Amino acid sequence: MASKNDNEFCAILDFGSQYSQLIARRVRENRVYCEILPCTTTAKELAERGVKGVLLSGGPCGVYDEGAPQLDAAILDLDVPVLGICYGMQVACQSTGGEVIPSTEREYGDTTLFIDSTDNPIFAGCGDKLQVWMSHGDRVSKSGDSFSAIAHTENTPLAAVHDSSRNFYGLQFHPEVTHTLDEGKILNNFLYKICRFSGDWEIKDYVEWAVQEIRKQVGDGRVVCGLSGGVDSSVVALLIHRAIGDRLTCFFVDNGLLREGEAEQVCEVFQGKFQLDFRFIDATDRFLERLVDVTDPETKRKQIGYQFIEEFREAAKEFTDAKFLAQGTLYPDVIESVSPFSGPSVTIKSHHNVGGLPDDLDFELVEPLRFLFKDEARLIGKELGLPDEIVNRQPFPGPGLGIRIVGEITRDRLETLRAADAIVRKELESWSRHKEIWQGFAVLLPVRSVGVQGDQRTYEATAALRIVESVDGMTANWMLPPQDILARISNRICNEVQGINRVVLDISSKPPSTIEWE
Ligand code: XMP
Repeated sequence: MASKNDNEFCAILDFGSQYSQLIARRVRENRVYCEILPCTTTAKELAERGVKGVLLSGGPCGVYDEGAPQLDAAILDLDVPVLGICYGMQVACQSTGGEVIPSTEREYGDTTLFIDSTDNPIFAGCGDKLQVWMSHGDRVSKSGDSFSAIAHTENTPLAAVHDSSRNFYGLQFHPEVTHTLDEGKILNNFLYKICRFSGDWEIKDYVEWAVQEIRKQVGDGRVVCGLSGGVDSSVVALLIHRAIGDRLTCFFVDNGLLREGEAEQVCEVFQGKFQLDFRFIDATDRFLERLVDVTDPETKRKQIGYQFIEEFREAAKEFTDAKFLAQGTLYPDVIESVSPFSGPSVTIKSHHNVGGLPDDLDFELVEPLRFLFKDEARLIGKELGLPDEIVNRQPFPGPGLGIRIVGEITRDRLETLRAADAIVRKELESWSRHKEIWQGFAVLLPVRSVGVQGDQRTYEATAALRIVESVDGMTANWMLPPQDILARISNRICNEVQGINRVVLDISSKPPSTIEWE
C-alpha cells in the first residue's frame, strides 16, 4: 500500500502480545512496511492484500485455553514465508498436527539458545550460541512431520523449528526485544533472506500515499482541524493541506493557558510560513471566566474541556459544508481497537485528541497518521518543513498551564508561571541530556514562604521543577540536571519572576506520582 512496490507488505497477526507493536517497529526499522492485523485475519484476506511475509505474534493465552485465539491454518499454505513467535509458533504447530504441552520449568528471561542448524538462513550471522529472551509457560513438544528442530535450549528441545515445505519458521523466544542479543539479525534475516523484501519503505512514500488517500476520502469536501500546535495535529494539518489546499480550515483556540510564545509561534508557522486557512480564536476571557474559584483538578479539566467544545461548535458553525474533521490519532491508539485480544483500553488516552468532541458534531474523521508511530509522525513533520521547535516539542496537556497551577487560576498567577516556565525550558536546553527529557516544566504552588531580597522581607509563592524521562508518559522517572543548570534556573526565577521567592525540585517518579501535579 504505502510502499513503492505494492507487493512489499508485511502482516503481523496480533494474538494479544504486549510486543506486537514492538514487532511492527522492528519491521519498519528494517524499511519494510507492515501493519498489525487481528489474529482472525484469514488467508484469503492476506492474499488479497498481496502480503509478502507474515509474522504471528506471541500472546497471553495457552493454545488449549477456552476461547484461545486460533490461526487460519490456510495461512501456512499461502506461498509466503511465515514466522511464528512464542504463541504464534505454538498455534501454528498445533494447527499442523503438532503438540503443545506445559513446560516443566517456566522459562522467563535470559536463556542460552543452542543453534543446531547454523546454516539455516534465519540464523545467518548468529553463530552457534545466542543469548535469547524467553517468556513462556507452554512449549511445542512435537511438531508436524515436515518440521525440523533448528535450535534448542536446556529446557526446550524445540526452541526453534523450520518447516521447509510450508516456508514456516517458529521461535519460542522473542527476537523483537533487545534482550535477545542477535543485534536484530533474526528479524532482518527473515525479512530479507527469507521473504526477500527489497526494503524500500521510506517516510517520503508515506507522505505521497497519505496525500492520495486523503484526496480519495475527502473528494471535493471540506475539512476542519483543531490545531493545538503539538506535533500530531500540526503534521496532520500540513498533510491535509498538501492534499486539498484551502479546503482545509484550521482553528487554533487560545485558551489563555498556553506557554510563553506558543500562540505567536503557531500563528507564525501556519498563517505565515505555510499560509493555511487559519482561524485564531482568542478565547482567554471565556476560559478564565469559567475557571473563577475552581480549585479542584478534575473540575478544572472538565470546565476547560467543556469550553473547548463550545468554542469548536461556535467556530464550526461558519462551515456547515464541512463534513470532515481531522484528527492526529496515532498507530498505538488504533491498535488497541483492532485487536480482540489486546485487553480493554489499558492505555486509552482520554486526553489524547482535541479534548473529546461530542458525537453530535457529526463529522467523518480524517486520520492520516493512524498507521504511524510518534517518531514517524515527527519524521513526516520534518519532511514537510515543520520547524524543529514544533517537531520536537514536548507533550503539552490540553488543559495547559491550568493543571500546573495548584489552586485557583488567575491572570496574575498565569503570568507568574509562564515566566518561570520559560526560564526552566530555556535553561534546560543547555543540558547535554536535553533530548532525553520527556517533559521539563515549572509548577506554581499555593505555598508562600518568607524570603529576603535586598533589604526587603518577601512573602511569596513557590515554584516546583518537574523534569522527567519517559517513553510514553505512562510511567516516568525524575531526572536530575547538573547543579550549575539548577542553580541558573533557581537564581533566574527568584530574581526575574515577580511573585516567586523559592524554587524546589520534584523528585518523584510515576507511579506513584503523576507527571502533572493536577
Ligand atoms: P500524568 O499527569 O497523568 O500525565 O502522569 C501523563 C501524560 O499525559 C499528559 N496529560 C494530558 N494531556 N490532556 C492532555 O492532552 C490532559 O488532560 C492531560 N493530563 C495529562 C501529561 O502532560 C503527560 O505527558
